[in-house]
Amino acid sequence: MKKKKIVSGMRTTGKLHLGHYMGVLTNWIELQDDYDCYFFAADWHALTTKYDKTENLKSDTREVVTDWLASGLDPKKSTIYVQSMLPQTAELHIYLSMITPQNWVERDPTLKDMTKIIRGDGSGAKTDTVSYGLLGYPVLMSADILTFNADIVPVGNDQLAHLEITRDIARRFNNIYKTDFLKEPLPKLTQVPLLYGIDGQKMGKSFHNDIKISDTEEETTKKIMKCITDRSRVRKTDKGHPDQCEVAFKYYQIFANEEETKCCEQECSLGIRGCAECKKNLAAIINNKFAPIREKRNQLSKNPEIVDEIIQEGSKKARIEAQKVIDKIREIINIY
Ligand code: TRP
Ligand code: SF4
Repeated sequence: MKKKKIVSGMRTTGKLHLGHYMGVLTNWIELQDDYDCYFFAADWHALTTKYDKTENLKSDTREVVTDWLASGLDPKKSTIYVQSMLPQTAELHIYLSMITPQNWVERDPTLKDMTKIIRGDGSGAKTDTVSYGLLGYPVLMSADILTFNADIVPVGNDQLAHLEITRDIARRFNNIYKTDFLKEPLPKLTQVPLLYGIDGQKMGKSFHNDIKISDTEEETTKKIMKCITDRSRVRKTDKGHPDQCEVAFKYYQIFANEEETKCCEQECSLGIRGCAECKKNLAAIINNKFAPIREKRNQLSKNPEIVDEIIQEGSKKARIEAQKVIDKIREIINIY
């Protein structure tokens, strides 16, 4: 039986953190064997808010793909490419933009959040105006997906509203042009363990509370030693409350094995394990887990031409597949 098609992308925001790894990458890696997967670095989507800060766009794109490869995305199994290297997406974006009602994009709740981000922390656009391109964010995302006529899109909760617009656009296209060519792609919601940053807030690059896949062991240990524990615990001999340990124990539950977690829980509750010792142990567990990934990442960083070659090859393959869909769509719309 023909494998179902999966498309998913990640905005190119630079080096990825452990939240990306646990939340997105481990899922993508699992999907590789059972689906025909297309994974891309969304540099055009990065441009929707960072159009005036493009100095690092190219290197950010390469860093993202390097993190993917080091983590186990396999170019032999999946098609790995860069969004802007697929002009077919831009062409489809034009066709879709013609049939998308203005109020569908204006209603997009994610977009409302994004304009807040721009206004709030200054990391986005200089002005608080929403550009034509940013308004088209969900339409571009629809083009990413529909340009392969994908069956399934693995996404987090925050992207569900966008995918709903994609399904609406596909349906509208089929209605207007009296066809059933475009599939309405289904979201595949991934059960993601929510990973907090070392300060107990959501992990994020702009919050300076993240641990990167590419961090060294020393950097990781230093960050882990700073992470929040049970605030009511003053002395080492005080009995701790793992359930109130805001970050460290949560990391145990995510990164350590069952035995290590249980041992931590018991020794903490009995007051026979100090927080410093506990976090040192945790850092070792995390460093151990990421050692092979980091080793591979170092190799790839030393040989960026390998990453570039994989991107070139993947993009070439993606263009061939996407062009088949575009040819059909041009025929349906009667484009010359
Ligand atoms: N908007 C997504 C995000 O910010 C990234 C993205 C762009 C995407 N195009 C996509 C995800 C297509 C899935 C499918 O995370
Ligand atoms: Fe958290 Fe470990 Fe300290 Fe207990 S001993 S409060 S689990 S860091």
